[in-house]
Amino acid sequence: MSYNLLKGKKGIIFGALNEQSLAWKIAQRCSEEGAQLVLTNAPIALRMGEINKLSEETKSPVIPADVTSMDDLKKLFEDSVKHFGGGIDFILHSIGMSVNMRKGKHYTELDYGFTQKTLDISAISLHRVLRTAWEMDALNEGASVVALTYIAAQRVFPDYNEMADAKSLLESITRSFGYHYGVKKKVRVNTVSQSPTRTTAGSGVKGFDGFINYAEKMSPLGNASQEDCANYCVTLFSDLTKMVTMQNLFHDGGFSFTGVTNAVIEQMEK
Ligand SMILES: NC(=O)c1ccc[n+]([C@@H]2O[C@H](COP(=O)([O-])OP(=O)(O)OC[C@H]3O[C@@H](n4cnc5c(N)ncnc54)[C@H](O)[C@@H]3O)[C@@H](O)[C@H]2O)c1
Repeated sequence: MSYNLLKGKKGIIFGALNEQSLAWKIAQRCSEEGAQLVLTNAPIALRMGEINKLSEETKSPVIPADVTSMDDLKKLFEDSVKHFGGGIDFILHSIGMSVNMRKGKHYTELDYGFTQKTLDISAISLHRVLRTAWEMDALNEGASVVALTYIAAQRVFPDYNEMADAKSLLESITRSFGYHYGVKKKVRVNTVSQSPTRTTAGSGVKGFDGFINYAEKMSPLGNASQEDCANYCVTLFSDLTKMVTMQNLFHDGGFSFTGVTNAVIEQMEK
């Protein structure tokens, strides 16, 4: 069902890799709500070709950009502004990669070179994106930027590894840049802290099945799905939330404020 919440708006969607990706569903919902989109991902991810399906479905061009390259980002914004014939109204940052996790390095034995790469891809990239837009004045007044994060930024989830540190930094950049962009152009910057969700990045976390089942039992509403996440992001890109900025918004069925549930207690008593 469409409410036309994004009619006439133009947005850049980072991070749609395949149909499981949170960004994929968000792009579909934004398109249903009337937005025009540019899709982008790292050149290596585009080689898999799946994004072409989404591009056809949403009638959006795909512009490659490695989010750690300022040259790529500059070109992405230049091409997007050209494509839209004007400024950008919203951006989704849906990017994460833990190099240590991939290489099987435990948190207590991090390779710092890998860690720097993780921080750059997963957190500093938000600064790079905002800075590129800032320097080109590519965002329209009141534009909305959303980055996806996880509650491991606040609480310990032992197997989330250095991504927990990356998410803390991502949320901090959200506040810091959100301040400056708010003052300059009423641009809003927020993070959405999503329930564990079966995606390529999500399933990379050790013990993911146990983890997702536990979160389901610990959330009064259950885990939020990809579709739920997409609906929530649509509201944040819309004008209905124009005074919300610099926030970390939990989208997790109540998990973040639940001490324990009867379902978990019952499980423990077995
Ligand atoms: N899946 C979950 O359980 C969950 C929960 C909370 C938050 N998140 C966050 O949601 C976001 C999206 O992840 P997802 O679960 O949809 O998985 P995903 O694997 O589908 O998405 C991650 C994306 O990051 C992109 N990426 C990696 N390196 C890049 C680079 N150098 N330049 C540009 N793009 C790059 C990948 O190509 C991919 O499209 C991430 O920030 C993730 O941490 C996921």
